[in-house]
Amino acid sequence: MAEVIITPTRDAAGALVADHIASLIAAQPETVLGLATGSTPEPVYRALPGALAGIDVSRVRGFALDEYVGLDPAHPESYRSVITREVVEPLGLTPALVRVPDGAGPDIARAADAYEEAIAAAGGVDLQILGIGTDGHIGFNEPGSSFASRTRVKTLTEQTRADNARFFAHPDDVPHHTVTQGLGTILEARHLVLLAFGAAKASAIAAALEGPLTARVPGSAVQLHPHVTVVVDEEAAADLEFADYYRFAYRNKPDWQGL
Ligand code: GLP
Repeated sequence: MAEVIITPTRDAAGALVADHIASLIAAQPETVLGLATGSTPEPVYRALPGALAGIDVSRVRGFALDEYVGLDPAHPESYRSVITREVVEPLGLTPALVRVPDGAGPDIARAADAYEEAIAAAGGVDLQILGIGTDGHIGFNEPGSSFASRTRVKTLTEQTRADNARFFAHPDDVPHHTVTQGLGTILEARHLVLLAFGAAKASAIAAALEGPLTARVPGSAVQLHPHVTVVVDEEAAADLEFADYYRFAYRNKPDWQGL
């Protein structure tokens, strides 16, 4: 099952994950990172420049999880812009090695297939950072998404559009469609690191980790993966039935085990 680590603060979670990513890159300079957007990974991205000091990142490759359809890539809230602003520039990654799905081109379906091919050609994702939506989505795989799904266009739920309205000038500006890695794509990454913070994520986290495996809760797909690390704060952990066990396991974790 997933390892669940409950941290006192978001910054503690960010530092924990950033330190692990730095050691991965130090050992393997061509590490392939799976990059998430939204508020959740921000503590990780904030901690990474410090954690990576002195480590060569010029060969690190990255694949974003998703992108809005029909938004100009130059729009400040396109995921291309967010990844450039929050990850590529502050970490000093090589821009040409960091890809985001194409949601603005003339043939999005073809571009989605090409994205899958590019991930495969890179040797697959070594570590995939994930957040979770309040409706249980990962990437933009909304409830009902197939566990076998690949990169494709999805229609957002009204809840997700409302959740993401804070990033746009007006709620109507949130696109209706996105192109997202599928659950099947995400499950092929070698290590999944799922983060969640705040009370609004508590029910989604509990459903994903301890509820039944169901397309109703796309995040429950992580139960199928052999190597998952979940890092949550106390608020996001509030509905976890086995929280005491997760704390006990983490307290007694052997030093050699790593993340
Ligand atoms: C977003 C992204 C997801 C993210 C989720 C939660 O819209 N597509 O990758 O994990 O919804 O967002 P946030 O981290 O802002 O709460």
